[in-house]
Amino acid sequence: MELVEAGYQPVIVDNLSRSDRTLLKGLKKILKQKVVFYKGDCANQAFLKKVFETERNIEGAMHFAAFKSVNESVQNPTLYYSNNLNSLTSLVNVMREFGVKDLIFSSSCTVYGQPDHSPVSEDAPMKRAESPYGATKQMSERILEDVYPSGMRIVSLRYFNPIGAHPSALIGELPVGVPGNLVPFITQTAIGKRNTLTVFGNDYSTPDGSCVRDFIHVVDVARAHIKSLEFLSKQGATPLYKVFNLGTGIGASVLELVNKFQQVTGVKLNYTIGPRRPGDVEKTYADPSKAFKELQWKPKYSIEDGLLHAWQWEEKLAKE
Ligand code: WQD
Repeated sequence: MELVEAGYQPVIVDNLSRSDRTLLKGLKKILKQKVVFYKGDCANQAFLKKVFETERNIEGAMHFAAFKSVNESVQNPTLYYSNNLNSLTSLVNVMREFGVKDLIFSSSCTVYGQPDHSPVSEDAPMKRAESPYGATKQMSERILEDVYPSGMRIVSLRYFNPIGAHPSALIGELPVGVPGNLVPFITQTAIGKRNTLTVFGNDYSTPDGSCVRDFIHVVDVARAHIKSLEFLSKQGATPLYKVFNLGTGIGASVLELVNKFQQVTGVKLNYTIGPRRPGDVEKTYADPSKAFKELQWKPKYSIEDGLLHAWQWEEKLAKE
């Protein structure tokens, strides 16, 4: 959406393993134009090559093909290693074959593991990842550090916790099965699809005992990708690899988010306190100043906006 509004003509490649064509219909409604879509697996290098052969003027690529549930990665590590790493190496190989130099990679704050302190800046050490998901993001960043000198210009965006949906409620997250992430689980509980939300632990060393995260609106995350393309277009031909945190710089706990959701929507949420979830870090939120300065990017939505847009999207899904 943001790409089209910025004047780009995106080509979407997706195997729909974690989404479906509903989103393409929503995109078409918002953009009032069709978006070029190829159904297929980014880990299938021969398939990707055909896309690049067909779409001759590809200027750059963005990798969004990683699976992203911390919890699921703990339950099924090899699914995460094969999908997340093979989809990236296939894309890089085909980009190099076709001389496409610019890549924006969706990395994650999980590369820091449990940071020694928050806010976390980009030069914080990468500690042992707390989950296979986080490990795949650490490995992916290492792959990109090893390949960029061959002539690529790469930006890795370390997302903190994206939440929300497009304000139009025409596109949003479509979790397949039981949502792994907090906000879709909250909205599905509020709409009645789930009986109750379990808060995974309230015995952490945080003000209210629940984990702290940096919840950033998904549209702000999208806008940072446009800013990153613009940033790369201003760099010379010299190969480069840059990393930026994408967060608001504000930490909020799980229980704070639950209360904010109830305030913003007026919907009472059933929730219980359960045991800690394996793989969770206790507290992490971003120092986003490097992205503010070098990408000239700043989040414009609040947590409340993200929760309200997520709820409006859930209500829209319920009507369909
Ligand atoms: C957040 C908090 C849970 C569900 C996410 C993405 C990952 C990466 C980092 C981008 C945790 C708690 C959750 C529930 C709960 N982002 N929770 N009950 O694990 O921080 O990782 O952000 O790359 O892709 O997955 O997000 O939403 O799963 O959990 O209490 O039913 O909410 O314990 O503290 P997480 P999450």
